[in-house]
Amino acid sequence: MREIYLKWYKQVIDELEILKQVEIPKPPRKPRSIVISGMGGSGIVGDYVQTLANRRLNVPVFVVKDYKLPAWVSGEDLAVFISYSGNTFETLSCYREAVARKVNMVAISSGGKLRKYAEENKTPYIPVKKGLVPRASLPAMVFAALGTLEKVGLKITFEKEVEETVFVLKEGVGEEEINNIVYSMENTLPIIVAYVDYAPLAWRFKNELNENSKIPVKVEIVPEWGHNDIVGWEKPYSKNHTAIILQPEKKTEEPYSIMLQYTIEYMGKQGIRTYKVKCKGENLLTQLLYGSLVAGLTSVKLAERRNLDPLATRSIKEYKKTITKHFTV
Ligand code: F6R
Repeated sequence: MREIYLKWYKQVIDELEILKQVEIPKPPRKPRSIVISGMGGSGIVGDYVQTLANRRLNVPVFVVKDYKLPAWVSGEDLAVFISYSGNTFETLSCYREAVARKVNMVAISSGGKLRKYAEENKTPYIPVKKGLVPRASLPAMVFAALGTLEKVGLKITFEKEVEETVFVLKEGVGEEEINNIVYSMENTLPIIVAYVDYAPLAWRFKNELNENSKIPVKVEIVPEWGHNDIVGWEKPYSKNHTAIILQPEKKTEEPYSIMLQYTIEYMGKQGIRTYKVKCKGENLLTQLLYGSLVAGLTSVKLAERRNLDPLATRSIKEYKKTITKHFTV
């Protein structure tokens, strides 16, 4: 896993090459909304794109992590289906529904049934390289989704930002930094704390620690945190937690900076250990992918220290087997 994470910069370059060969016809009218459907390591891509789009696009992005589409999705919308394996029940079920509703669609996968169905239905299709686990393919899938938007005239990333992302991923993360994060959270229940723009990264960090390190993790997003979770610390069952605070290396914008500072001080007063992870990059895309690299390397290191295989996700396999026993799509 570590080797794959360290080559993420190459994954971005390769996916940009793949995108050059793909044609996606522009819908006749600007889509009313972009719906992104996917689960787990593929579904998180929707969260990244939604957050990036919220800042720059006048078309709403809606993320679906379910087996059915919301009732309002129709031919006026553009739906992007992302499944690394191409065989995930929930995503395929949404795809089927979109076909029936004549929604404009794009499919992204490394193969599987999604590819087959896309061929049958002439759905524009973007491949990502085969042979990885979904979560290790994050940059390729993020760039495939961003490339989809660009091809339909809804560009939200600039060349300079892509270049910076490749540069920062290539530079990597110092081993000492990873060790420090691991030591700060080891044998505790980590809480990943982030402000709204970093929310997808907080969820990604949690998912990486779940799947690679095999531990449960809590996520808190500021400012919502100050309206409920804050009270939970008045009388908790346990204080064996470490708050991992995600923020930009450069200045955090106000008032988020003040809100985060308050959170750190409050948690500190409650006896919760806090550790700040500073994300490199001048722009949000770079910061989110750098943070994802930190999350990946941290989770692999923790797995190693626990003598566990980061690649294995037995329980997901069992869950999928049970669901597909009941439903075929
Ligand atoms: C991540 C992982 C899962 C899958 C999820 C959906 O590495 O294994 O979170 O991403 O079960 O599967 P795919 O991505 O194949 O649609």
